[in-house]
Amino acid sequence: MNNNNKPIAMFDSGVGGLSVLEAVTQLLPNEKFIYLADQSHVPYGSRDLSEIQKFSKEISKFFIERGAKLIVVACNTASAAALEVLRMEFSNISFVGMEPAVKPAAEKTETGVVGVLATRATFQGELYTSVVERFVKDVKIIQDPCIGLVQQIEAGNFEGEETEEILKNALLPMLEENIDTIVLGCTHFPFVFPAIEKIVGPHVRLINPAPAIAKQVHRLLEKENKLANSEKQGKVEYLTTGNLIHFKSILGKLGMDGSVERIDWGKELSLV
Ligand code: DGL
Repeated sequence: MNNNNKPIAMFDSGVGGLSVLEAVTQLLPNEKFIYLADQSHVPYGSRDLSEIQKFSKEISKFFIERGAKLIVVACNTASAAALEVLRMEFSNISFVGMEPAVKPAAEKTETGVVGVLATRATFQGELYTSVVERFVKDVKIIQDPCIGLVQQIEAGNFEGEETEEILKNALLPMLEENIDTIVLGCTHFPFVFPAIEKIVGPHVRLINPAPAIAKQVHRLLEKENKLANSEKQGKVEYLTTGNLIHFKSILGKLGMDGSVERIDWGKELSLV
């Protein structure tokens, strides 16, 4: 196969990275994609960073064997835990990772108070600490891990009582502190955008980093001379390590399509 027409590979613990895939496919409609949802291990956010590193390394190895030309770590938690290690271990392929969009939020806030929603593991990672240290001056940051929200989104509950309860617990104290900007620091969270807006109202700015990530993918492929040179609409091949029927139903709910396959974690954590 012509090297330019090899796939861009993306992974997340589950359906969250689909928010990034959506932005990248919109910007690069002729590219082919492999998307892997590691749903047998979701949520990543409550796991040890070392465990998330193991999953991320194995998934990257699997993508490279499948001929990927670029890997997008479409998960803030896996980026926090493993991006640096992946870049060192697999130096022949480029990685694009996520980092909470604290920088644009700190630049845009007028009240000087910003809310960040991300998983516990993301907040624990050095990446988050370094972003805050580098870009936040004279801005108050209020963090919340939204415990249980990833599981609700995985279950397809983008709205409803339980989802709203988790969001209210996170957002009402932030509103009391006069936030005007919220960073969506987990790729699952753009799917509850309307539920968040219902609580905070239309005047609080929500920052979803997915469009910026899509531009970054474009820039990198252009620089490496690897942009697809086919005129055909690209396809997405979806893989899940979890329940195939459930994954298909979420894809349907999001209006996304493509072939879906199940893969298993074999012995000693290898993908088969
Ligand atoms: N979508 C993920 C993130 O961006 C992971 C959520 C999880 O599995 O806890 O952080």
